[in-house]
Amino acid sequence: MSNNDPTERDARVFALYEQLLEIEQRLIPTGLHVFGRASSAGEQIDLLKMVASFDRPEFGVRALPAEIVDEAVREFIGKGSDAAVRFLNERGFTTEDAQPVFALLESVSAKLQTNTELESLVRALSGEFIEPGPGADIIQNPDVLPTGRNTHAINPYSVPSAAAFARSEVVATSLLERYRSEHGRFPEAMALVLWGLDNIKTQGEGVAQALWLLGVKPVRDALNRTTSVEPIALEELGRPRIDVVMTVSGIFRDLFSPTVQLLDKAVRVVAQLDEPLQMNYVRKHVREQVEQDACAPDEAAVRVFSNAPGNYGTNVNFMVMDSQWEREETLGDLFVTRKCFAYGRDSHGRAIEGREARVAMDRALSRVEATYQNIDTFEIGLTDVDHYFEYLGGVSKAVEKRARSKPAIYLSDTLSRDVKIRSLEETVRLETRSKTLNPKWYEGMLKHGFRGVAEIENHVSNTFGWSATADAVDDWIYAEVANTFLFDESMLERLRDLNPHSAHALVQRLLEANGRGYWDADVGTLEKLREISRSLEDQLEGVA
Ligand code: BEZ
Ligand code: MG
Repeated sequence: MSNNDPTERDARVFALYEQLLEIEQRLIPTGLHVFGRASSAGEQIDLLKMVASFDRPEFGVRALPAEIVDEAVREFIGKGSDAAVRFLNERGFTTEDAQPVFALLESVSAKLQTNTELESLVRALSGEFIEPGPGADIIQNPDVLPTGRNTHAINPYSVPSAAAFARSEVVATSLLERYRSEHGRFPEAMALVLWGLDNIKTQGEGVAQALWLLGVKPVRDALNRTTSVEPIALEELGRPRIDVVMTVSGIFRDLFSPTVQLLDKAVRVVAQLDEPLQMNYVRKHVREQVEQDACAPDEAAVRVFSNAPGNYGTNVNFMVMDSQWEREETLGDLFVTRKCFAYGRDSHGRAIEGREARVAMDRALSRVEATYQNIDTFEIGLTDVDHYFEYLGGVSKAVEKRARSKPAIYLSDTLSRDVKIRSLEETVRLETRSKTLNPKWYEGMLKHGFRGVAEIENHVSNTFGWSATADAVDDWIYAEVANTFLFDESMLERLRDLNPHSAHALVQRLLEANGRGYWDADVGTLEKLREISRSLEDQLEGVA
């Protein structure tokens, strides 16, 4: 097609427009929580808008449409519930539809004004009772308010909830469709990362997604505990059962012991179904492994891995942060060394509780074609913490060596109104545009002074983590970080005044990105960076 084709041009402009909208509409935190301080008026309005943007059947509340939510919440804040209900009436809402929204906002707003975090801390330190409250974020569950309570988890036997299971079907389907649109077929095996806190917040969405990929549904026993699964018929599923390799965090292993058993059981049930191998990749792979490796069927069906009992984390983050690695494959190997402990139950009913199973994990990962993690909150994303790259990056790097091919890496976004599956590269770009390079985000951080600069540096280092584990960071990202924070003289002045240590670490990380081949920067740029680095070192020595 020629460059002048108007249809093509319109399609491109439209795609660009959609991307801009996506960045513009992305919810981001604009500062850190200060312990003991209630949210400011502006923050409260933003939170109320988000609370009102989702359907909440548990409160009888329907989401306010995106076009009017801003005005409706301002009307509510400025003039109260009755005026806000009238505002909606004028836009075609019945009073019955409008009232529950503002009743909920009224209650959320009242609880946002109080903050007993400091008092509760003092009472806890004196050994007094602290009232319990659920663990989640305000958007997912407004009942987390007021803060300053003793966060409790959930009953693992209730996981996944019926709502989480229902919501996860579309996620699993979209994920597989995305892979198919890019590869022309379904992936035979996928590696999933499951975290404890995420599954508490979502009542087990990650768990439910794994069950959907396998093509099974949870079954409750006479005591209403989810202890078993039932295969969904292939005709109903309409696609093959995917082989799923699960790496669960140490926290998940500790909090969700029955769920670990459930996931392991799901794999073993699927492996035993008498189905065509091209419709049941678990069975196909277990068979192949039994034949090729002369391995016991029990061993060939191990798919749930975590740390050794009592251990947590992959340490891949520490290795990257401290620049203590030469070859990328070391990062994937470390991931497997830390996470190759199997959990579940064998066919004789004997518990497998953290048995070292490196060969089984190597083998399971060698078949993986796509890796995936669910993101369920707008507060913490790929570049906010080093845990996403240590887990999803770590497992992807381990797959790359064992499968002799880079896996497709995906994330889902189950926090927005519509489920969205993105590639890792797309997610890194979106995070960079909406956070690291977004003045609203970094100015919010810089209000916190020393800590704010450390946060900016953390984001850049966490972004670098995605270069190290997955080569998923475009050159422009590093170039724009340098332009925004270092080559803008007044910004550099602010950073070096507030926190010269973090400013220095940021420059060093950019130089490391170039040195390791992740950023193709020109000689002049590198010379400027080295110059800034030297001057920060002089400043730090002067301080010392
Ligand atoms: C978890 O909730 O499982 C988790 C939390 C922080 C880092 C890694 C995992
Ligand atoms: Mg590159």
